[in-house]
Amino acid sequence: MNSKITNQLKEKYEAINQDVETHLEGLLHSKPINYWDYIQTDALLNLQIQHTVFPDEKVFIMYHQISELLFKMILSEIEQVAKDDNITTEIFTDKIMRVSRYFDVLTSSFSIMKDGMDVNQYNKFRTTLTPASGFQSAQYRKIEFASTELINLIDKRFRDTIDRNTSYEHAFEHLYWQAAGKDYKTGKKTYTLTAFEERYKEEFIRFTKFYQFNNLYSKFKSLPKEAKENKALTEAMRHYDYTVNIKWVMAHYNTANHYLNINGKTAEATGGSEWVKYMHPKYQKRIFFPDLWTEKEKETWGTNI
Ligand code: HEM
Repeated sequence: MNSKITNQLKEKYEAINQDVETHLEGLLHSKPINYWDYIQTDALLNLQIQHTVFPDEKVFIMYHQISELLFKMILSEIEQVAKDDNITTEIFTDKIMRVSRYFDVLTSSFSIMKDGMDVNQYNKFRTTLTPASGFQSAQYRKIEFASTELINLIDKRFRDTIDRNTSYEHAFEHLYWQAAGKDYKTGKKTYTLTAFEERYKEEFIRFTKFYQFNNLYSKFKSLPKEAKENKALTEAMRHYDYTVNIKWVMAHYNTANHYLNINGKTAEATGGSEWVKYMHPKYQKRIFFPDLWTEKEKETWGTNI
């Protein structure tokens, strides 16, 4: 055996007080690995548990699972940018392009949801899912927290009331998505939102502690001037912002319209939001990197599509 590797192995195991010989002997007895062991296909292909007998429910479950896997890949790329204290313009651009490609896939594949299920089947099996909603996707929320500063995720109507001295609790209560889960007249939260917060609020607080200073936008703003003016990087950032906040949002909105707007009558969504207004980008004007857009582009956000 190559003596360099032997020495490196020795060093590795000595560092954790382990006998390298025992570990080498273990290699003699270990099983060769197979594709199905490594990819965990048995576990993966047993995660599609339907609530009904409708075959198209499987499409619905699996496409959500595919989306969550891509969300995980996106979060992993963002984390690498966030944790790199000396990131170069090239690496930043490269990572943003990777994240964008994942979102491009999510956007173009949304037709699997829109045209891939029978409307009647969908409207039957969805009744068994109420009050669950994609609204409760924690990874989607994390992507947002990791992409931009909290202020850009605050409901437009309340942005002026929030600044650096505002408590996290107050800011959290005014995140844009609270509008989908709260009656603003009575202030009462829906079950969908209450259950989501019970499950994830603490985790979000931990997550935002790090990302409030290390999100993509803050990280970009802390780069030297030449990097911030680098065309490839700014174009990549704009592409990402546009893909997430207009293209994906519109693909999602068009899908909701396809299933829930029947003969001009809109059905209530499983999460119970006023979805027609809530989901359209022109109302929310969610923008991760506002400095990278002109005033005109921001004003007309979501209107020219
Ligand atoms: C037939 C397919 C779909 C329909 C009809 C649909 C409909 C809706 C509706 C109406 C909402 C608003 C909240 C509510 O009242 O429930 C929502 C939110 C949401 N859905 Fe979907 N959805 C679909 C597929 C998906 C897929 C595949 C994903 C991927 C994970 C997803 C992720 C989300 C997210 C992240 C939100 C929150 C968005 C926000 O707050 O702006 N949805 N969906």
